[in-house]
Amino acid sequence: MFGELLKVFKEKFGEGGDIRGYFAPGRVNLIGEHTDYNGGHVFPCALTMGNYAVARKRDDDIIRWFNLTYPDNGVIEKNIREFAPEDNGLWYDYQEGVVWAFMQNGFHVPHGYDMVMKSDMPAGSGLSASASIEELAAVIIKDLFDIDMTMVDCARMGQYSENEYNGMNCGIMDQFASAMGKKDNAIFLDTSNLQYEYVPLNFTDEKIIITNSKVKHKLAGSAYNDRRRESEEALSDLKKVCDIKTLGDLDNETFRKYEDEISDPVCRKRAKHAVSENQRTIKAVECLRNSDLIAFGHLMNESHVSLRDDYEVSCPELDVLAEEAWKLPYVLGSRMTGGGFGGCTVSIVKSENTSDFCDVIAREYKKRTGLDCEFYIADPGDGAGRRQIND
Ligand code: GLA
Repeated sequence: MFGELLKVFKEKFGEGGDIRGYFAPGRVNLIGEHTDYNGGHVFPCALTMGNYAVARKRDDDIIRWFNLTYPDNGVIEKNIREFAPEDNGLWYDYQEGVVWAFMQNGFHVPHGYDMVMKSDMPAGSGLSASASIEELAAVIIKDLFDIDMTMVDCARMGQYSENEYNGMNCGIMDQFASAMGKKDNAIFLDTSNLQYEYVPLNFTDEKIIITNSKVKHKLAGSAYNDRRRESEEALSDLKKVCDIKTLGDLDNETFRKYEDEISDPVCRKRAKHAVSENQRTIKAVECLRNSDLIAFGHLMNESHVSLRDDYEVSCPELDVLAEEAWKLPYVLGSRMTGGGFGGCTVSIVKSENTSDFCDVIAREYKKRTGLDCEFYIADPGDGAGRRQIND
């Protein structure tokens, strides 16, 4: 990958200087969905798929960026002091947002830079290609200009930019996973205080398989912001009777005791998911630590049902993928992953049955939806950072 990027970089922007390589991964969330803006826990891992770049700093305020994944956009050339929030859903909006976020948050960005990038992950599939682009920008700026900040700060800048520049009110899970990932581990993150632990995914006989439904329903962005608002409304009703800061502060029993205080039945369902999903996530990590993958898988299945029925962020295509997976004896668990309304499911499958899994799911998915799906074996990888260029 870097060989190709370097060649194009030299053609477009010339040889010489200190050209550096970077990578930022996408992520898959194993459990803990729609909990990250509700003060709950999440359990994602970084993937080995993501966005790659080579970059070289400049001594003026200009950026020149080229993305080999979207060559038709040509070279984007702008002045970093003129960036202002806007979102056309294009890759460079995410990059611009991060440069802008650094400056808004007091990190001095002294100059612009030239950059060529390329992705090896599917976009718009719920595997956080956008967070990967954001974290790529964050590590490039941090490293090129030697900015004194942590990788957690990089995650924060990614979330800040997506919220304030791109108008998507996301939590911090995706950026955190991309910035902080660790090979062969998932991250158990408490989003109420950003405390985290790495948990080894030392499966001996199982693989994590991602199935891409290849659909993305239009309402995803607006429905996401609606869910956030509904959760907040539920929280504000509950705060009248319980001393809590977030829905993540409640266990299932306490929630049941007070749920009738939530006046709107839709908001009550949303809160039920946020509370139960957080409890499931805590339990699932405990199961994994005890090597009880069967119990872990059951919790994944319950997570899907809760996302489908209470949070209502699944869609027929994701339900078909999960239901068909549940029928197979060698699947330990399967659920939608990410924001929902399309994108992917994640399944834990016995290693010896992975090719059968792909055959059966592809066939049944086609039969029931008329669509083709795509599979990736998830290989939990390291987080964003500088990478060696071996040209
Ligand atoms: C999207 C958001 C995340 C998180 C998930 C749902 O991926 O970007 O912050 O809320 O949806 O768990």
